[in-house]
This record gives sequence, structure tokens and C-alpha cells, in this order.
Amino acid sequence: MSSTTGTTTVITNIATLVTNDPSLGDGSPLGLIRDAAVVIDGHRVAWTGESSKAPATDNRVDAGGRAVIPGFVDSHSHLVFAGDRTEEFNARMSGRAYSAGGIRTTVAATRAATDAQLEANLTRYLAEALRQGTTTFETKSGYGLTVEDEARALRIAAAHTDEVTYLGAHIVSPDYAEDPAAYVALVTGEMLDACAPYARWIDVFCEKGAFDGDQARAILTAGKAKGLHPRIHANQLTYGPGVQLAVELDAASADHCTHLTDDDVDALANSATVATLLPGAEFSTRAEWPDARRLLDAGVTVALSTDCNPGSSFTSSVPFCIALAVRDMGMTPDEALWSATAGGARALRRDDIGRLSPGAYADLALLDAPSHVHLAYRPGVPLVTEVWRRGLRVS
Ligand code: NIG
Ligand code: FE
Repeated sequence: MSSTTGTTTVITNIATLVTNDPSLGDGSPLGLIRDAAVVIDGHRVAWTGESSKAPATDNRVDAGGRAVIPGFVDSHSHLVFAGDRTEEFNARMSGRAYSAGGIRTTVAATRAATDAQLEANLTRYLAEALRQGTTTFETKSGYGLTVEDEARALRIAAAHTDEVTYLGAHIVSPDYAEDPAAYVALVTGEMLDACAPYARWIDVFCEKGAFDGDQARAILTAGKAKGLHPRIHANQLTYGPGVQLAVELDAASADHCTHLTDDDVDALANSATVATLLPGAEFSTRAEWPDARRLLDAGVTVALSTDCNPGSSFTSSVPFCIALAVRDMGMTPDEALWSATAGGARALRRDDIGRLSPGAYADLALLDAPSHVHLAYRPGVPLVTEVWRRGLRVS
């Protein structure tokens, strides 16, 4: 095969290849190809098909009958933080309820940390995620809550990913406990100006104990005016206005979606807003699961992500979330895999990731298993044995 970059590589002898391109293979949403091969030209996929029909390339890699899937797209994490919340988790597992207020513990630790400490923590969790097959991740600020601390969190994050989210509106800063309106003015004014250059997205925690619907609308609208695209923490702990607001503002994603009315589900089904489900949070807060089946049956686009953060979901493992979604949220293994790859890409409004068909980035994972179904069938087993990003083996 002639190359546009100088080097072509074929990965052959793939037992099951998930392309997420329904025009390929078995024609299902996963576009499954058996006995498959993938040809990589530089950073991108150049060809996928049956192994026996693969074109000649410069390099050849034998997958040895393993499955190949697109790299996971983890579209929701909070990785710029310091400290941990082991005691809070311990207390919760002894019966105490989760509340937004625990975020203050991490805010204090994060403010006290140096830039180098925050960066070291971030890179540690990114490496952990990469080893488990995550090739794209979004991450947020939200544990600084001052102009300087939010801007530095985003600056540090932006050195490691393009998918950076300004979450100055995580909770009302403890410094403004008596005057939430003044904090909203800061988040939509000076703090937004300092943060916008580093971020693609703006997010708000719309929840009891955080920000109400009117405050959330004001915050997201101000972000849009500065060129940031909205996404929103919605309907996690209780029913509320977050999902409707996400649809009203054409947010890329409404995240959590644990408590939904029929009107919320209808609104999502008739919108371009993805419902991003975060089962690590329900696991770690012993809360009721989001109902993925109800959303899928209504025609909503569903993404699955980790929500990795030290409070409500301290896991970087997308395979773990897939297993939970299949066991407890009514998803089939195929749906869960799609949601953790193509669904994550939709939640980030990207079409160059989350699929393995010509033109997409060559971001992929090899599983020590004959198919992706084993991610749920063999929960807790480290099946990801090799990870490629932008056409290079990275793990
Ligand atoms: O997505 N919901 C708000 N933010 C995080 C929790 C953060 C924390 O508890 O530190 C979440 O679950
Ligand atoms: Fe979150």
C-alpha cells in the first residue's frame, strides 16, 4: 500500500475487530469484522477488512487471535487535584450519604499543592488510564475555585489533552459561602476570562448543594459567549432542571442522568445532547444505577465514562464501567462497548476518534480475549494487553 507518511503497518490475525462503522463487517452498529486486519498509515487508519485481503505494508504485527477495539474515549474526568478522600469513602461504606460538600476537602488540598505536584498526580492517572485502553480523555478544573487556581488547573490539563473543561462552577467557593451571587459573577466574569484560553468546554454542577437552574443557565451562557461549548453535570443526586437546560443550550452532553423524568428522556431523545452515564459514581456512592435501557429504548445516544475523581468515583477503568453497565444498567456488551468508544466521541463532538475505519486516528487496544464481550464477561481481569495511540504502540 502506498503511504502518505512514509510508513505503513498492518495488524493481522485479529479474531474480532470492532470498527464502530456499520457500513463495515456484519453491518451492526459495531461493524464487527472476524479474522480481520487493520492497516495504519502514519497516525491514521488507512484500511480495515478481512486479514486475507490486507494490502502489503512496510511493517506487520500479528495480533495472535486477540480482539481489537477502538481506544476508549473517556469523556468525563476530574484529574487535576491533590490529596484523597479515603476517610469519606470509608464513612460512606459505613452508611453516611454522599453530598456535594465533600468537594471542599479536595479544594483545600488542591490549593495547597504546587504545580509540579498537580502535574505529577495528573500524569500518574493518565498513565493508569492509558494502560487500561483509554486513548482520549476529557478533564476538568473545579478543585481550585479561585481565578488563579482554576486557570492553573486548566493550563496543566491543556498540556496533556485537547479536551479541557472549565468547571469553576463545581460548587460555590467556600470563600463566597455567604454570597453565592458574587461567586457566580466571578465565575462568569474575571475567572472565565482567565480560564477560557485554556479550555474547549464549560461545565456546571447543576444540583442541590451546588448551582440551581438559573445560575447554571447564566454560567453556561456566559461561557458560550466566550466561545466555550457547554456540557453539564445534571440530575445526579436528585431530579432537577439540568437535563432540560442541557438540551435548551445544545450542550454536547448531560452527564450522570441518574434521576430522569419521562420529559427529560423525551428531551434528550429529540436533541443532539448525549447522555453520559458514570456508573463508577453510583458504585462508589452506593446509589441507584442510571437506567441505560430506558434511555437506549427511547433513542437517546448514550456514552459511558469513568468520572474519575477522588470523591465520588476514584476509578480510571473504563472496562470496570462497562462491566457495571452490562450487569446493572441494562446494556448489552455491544452497547456498552459502543458507548465507551463511539459514544464518548459523540459526547465530545468528535468523529476522528471512537472508530476504526479509514480516516480515523489509529487509537486502539488489543484484548487478551477473542472478543470485546469478555470485558463484561470477565470483570476485573486486566484484558487490555496492548494500546496504540496515533498509530504508535504506547503501552
Ligand atoms: O461528577 N458531581 C460533581 N462532581 C463530581 C464529584 C466530585 C467530588 O466529589 O469531588 C462528580 O461526581
Ligand atoms: Fe463529574
